[in-house]
Amino acid sequence: MNGVTIRQAEASDRAGIRRVEERAFGQVFEADLVEQLVADGDTVLELVAERDGSIVGHVLFSRLGIEAGDARFEAVALAPLAVDPDFHSQGIGSALVETAHARLKADGERLSVVLGDPAYYGRFGYAHAQAAGFESDYQGEALQALAWGEAPTTGLLVYARAFLAL
Ligand SMILES: CC(C)(COP(=O)(O)OP(=O)(O)OC[C@H]1O[C@@H](n2cnc3c(N)ncnc32)[C@H](O)[C@@H]1OP(=O)(O)O)[C@@H](O)C(=O)NCCC(=O)NCCS
Repeated sequence: MNGVTIRQAEASDRAGIRRVEERAFGQVFEADLVEQLVADGDTVLELVAERDGSIVGHVLFSRLGIEAGDARFEAVALAPLAVDPDFHSQGIGSALVETAHARLKADGERLSVVLGDPAYYGRFGYAHAQAAGFESDYQGEALQALAWGEAPTTGLLVYARAFLAL
């Protein structure tokens, strides 16, 4: 993490974010997803990790609805998280997620959901048990949630429109 700054993404970061997403995932899908989420106005929080003026990491949280009958709870979805392969295992991914969580909590968010490897996301407090009751096409061990206070444990997960292309 030496010399790495975590900060809010700015409009001028788009090319750097695209590059880090493509390099981390080895494909354009996640970079396209990020641009569509931003274009649709579905971003809740987007942070970058910057080193020597270059973007080396990126995380995005989008709005996620949890619907039960006429009621809708506003949660957030963590996706994607990307760190440039040249900078893996330096704590950058963790710093992005932990900084984002602190800001989301301070902003009054109460629930974050992620679809990912429990071996990685478990370290931040995400657990499948917290998400096992949700109705979702993605239901399974990889679907995990982290609650900061009172939050639903059942209901239909309604992801931002950009995820429908998945
Ligand atoms: C996952 C990712 C963001 C982690 O970034 P990072 O900056 O290397 O993360 P950190 O330095 O905070 O943590 C690294 C640790 O996580 C571990 N780790 C990385 N991916 C993991 C996974 N899928 N499952 C379990 N552990 C994982 C590393 O082995 C490393 O372990 P160590 O601390 O014992 O060395 C990065 O590897 C990446 O961009 N991967 C490709 C894209 C991706 O899979 N994104 C997540 C899914 S949306």
